[in-house]
Amino acid sequence: MDLLLRGGRVVDPSRALDGEADVLLRDGKVAEVGRVAAVPAGVRELDARGLIVCPGLVDLHVHLREPGQEYKEDIATGTRAAARGGFTTVCCMPNTVPTNHDRSITELIVRRAADVGSARVRPIGAISRGLEGKALADIADMKEGGIVAISDDGRPVMNAGLLRRAMEYARTFDLPVVQHAEDLDLAEGGAMNEGAVATRLGVKSQPACAESAMVARDLELVAWTGARYHVAHVSAARTVALVRDAKRRGLPVTCEVTPHHLTMTDDALALYDTCCKVMPPLREAGDVAALLEALADGTIDCVATDHAPHSPVEKELELEAAAPGMLGLETALAVVLGLARRGAITLPRAIHLLTWGAARCFSLDAGGAGTLRVGAPADVCVLDPERRWTVTPAELASKSKNTPLAGVELTGRAVLTVMGGAVTFDLDGRLTPATGRPS
Ligand code: DOR
Ligand code: ZN
Repeated sequence: MDLLLRGGRVVDPSRALDGEADVLLRDGKVAEVGRVAAVPAGVRELDARGLIVCPGLVDLHVHLREPGQEYKEDIATGTRAAARGGFTTVCCMPNTVPTNHDRSITELIVRRAADVGSARVRPIGAISRGLEGKALADIADMKEGGIVAISDDGRPVMNAGLLRRAMEYARTFDLPVVQHAEDLDLAEGGAMNEGAVATRLGVKSQPACAESAMVARDLELVAWTGARYHVAHVSAARTVALVRDAKRRGLPVTCEVTPHHLTMTDDALALYDTCCKVMPPLREAGDVAALLEALADGTIDCVATDHAPHSPVEKELELEAAAPGMLGLETALAVVLGLARRGAITLPRAIHLLTWGAARCFSLDAGGAGTLRVGAPADVCVLDPERRWTVTPAELASKSKNTPLAGVELTGRAVLTVMGGAVTFDLDGRLTPATGRPS
């Protein structure tokens, strides 16, 4: 659809743009950003005054569960959740069944996403076959198939020799190596953060150094190999300090943080709510403060959701037995806007963290993700920063409902999502006939 978004506050951190402008989308591309005097024939117009118009959001870390665990989520529902959250690009982790460790699985995901997806899906390939940490996956082949990074996410790569080989290999393909940093020997299978809350609850726990110690080791391998390295879901103050120092030393290191690690602590587990069990675990107030500081000073490159759908079969269990993970795609924007609302970061920084900052980590900007520059794909999020809404599990597009925000009122929401010029979400049905809402 050719579309003119009229008079919104256009925030495009890729060009340090923040001001009132019109955005014209034609033939699936951004055609003009500025003052569009006359509406070209055949172009639909949307009054965006009072709204923010920004690049479609980019999420580097989602679990779409297809193939193999479609009872939790699939590519259709996961990308519908993405569109409802304002996202137009999501990178999906390879811990599917079977693992995305060879080209046939990568291509299956890409094809399926093209057929049924409401967002662009960029697969992340496994580092090791079956995520077993023994033999390298078919990295070169998967790269041909379309992967944008490699990771064993859900599990760390414990074997430093294997990680070194993976880094050397990844470097030749300019692929970022994404680490789920959790030293399993230090973690000892702990279900939550080691600290006063875990002691009080009597729950097996893991120390924050299980994360930071692995990152410290990995940084030595980055220095050795020169590979691009991305720390997934940073959660601990010590990890932030290591990444900050590595960046200062000029190492090719990036990192992401989740909305939940920015806003919740292990206190959330006081009533044994398994929705709040995630890996890495929710930490303590000092960690959250360090994450917020790093978010503002540029140490943290982006916010990624780690959208991790699970069914009641995996969640309605005692804390230690429950699977880790929570939903994120439909609530991330409101949570990050909330940080701007309370002054922890600026609004343009909030948008940066969800668009350009994310796209750059995996070089998705090369394909035009995360920007509204003229000629880029017409991937746009129009959001209402004042919109109040209540998270209602039955209304979530995700097949799973494991969110601790159920029933919580949030402020700020995507009202329109456009991918390649096609409307993938239209909250108020302003652009779509009442009969045929796309989402
Ligand atoms: O909480 C998490 N859930 N952390 C992970 O690393 C994996 C993920 C999942 O796949 O459910
Ligand atoms: Zn992970």
